[in-house]
Amino acid sequence: MEITRQATDAERLLESLGQLPEPMAKPVFIAVSGLPGTGKSYFCARLAERLLFIILESDALRRVLFPVPDYSAEESSRLFQAVHLLIEKLLKKGLSLILDATNLSERNREYLYRIAERLGMKLILVRVEAPAEVVRQRLASRLKNQESKSDADWRVYQQMKSSVEKIRCQHFAVDTSRNITPVLDKIVRQASR
Ligand SMILES: Nc1ncnc2c1ncn2[C@@H]1O[C@H](COP(=O)(O)OP(=O)(O)O)[C@@H](O)[C@H]1O
Ligand SMILES: [Mg+2]
Repeated sequence: MEITRQATDAERLLESLGQLPEPMAKPVFIAVSGLPGTGKSYFCARLAERLLFIILESDALRRVLFPVPDYSAEESSRLFQAVHLLIEKLLKKGLSLILDATNLSERNREYLYRIAERLGMKLILVRVEAPAEVVRQRLASRLKNQESKSDADWRVYQQMKSSVEKIRCQHFAVDTSRNITPVLDKIVRQASR
């Protein structure tokens, strides 16, 4: 039963992506990690301008399965089960992708490590950060302008702060209050290898 639902959910998410790019011989798997407002979606969008990537934005995919999200543990669990299956499907098809989700706990990231391992590929992981005061201002104006798929505000940021766990494997780090180009360059170089 579980597996059927996971497959149906993943299929719906896949359909929501619209037309997919051409497959390639060596697809690239990238994931970001960071609190709300640190600039993950902004960073992913800049990266996707440089390389042909499907962006899997958890905030957007959540609305495909849950038009009125409640952000409960059950909802997130069902969402990410489908997302993980979708990631594996896309990579197997030869499509490069960026997972745009908070990915704060090592337990959550563990799924991504395992997918990469199973497919014998490298996961490029990026820790996205910004000073708290910058985040506070960004979240305030993001909500005001309704320019994002995310509902997270400063309170959510503060609540989620305690879930941040150190990333145990090698990864990139970027402070989005500064120039992000050097890190974009490095990732593009590593992805093209
Ligand atoms: N480097 C940046 N330069 C300018 N604005 C940015 C930058 N990074 C993020 N923002 C803006 O800050 C807000 C929060 O960033 P966003 O990417 O939505 O964060 P997240 O996806 O991590 O929640 C958005 O309105 C975004 O456009
Ligand atoms: Mg976002």
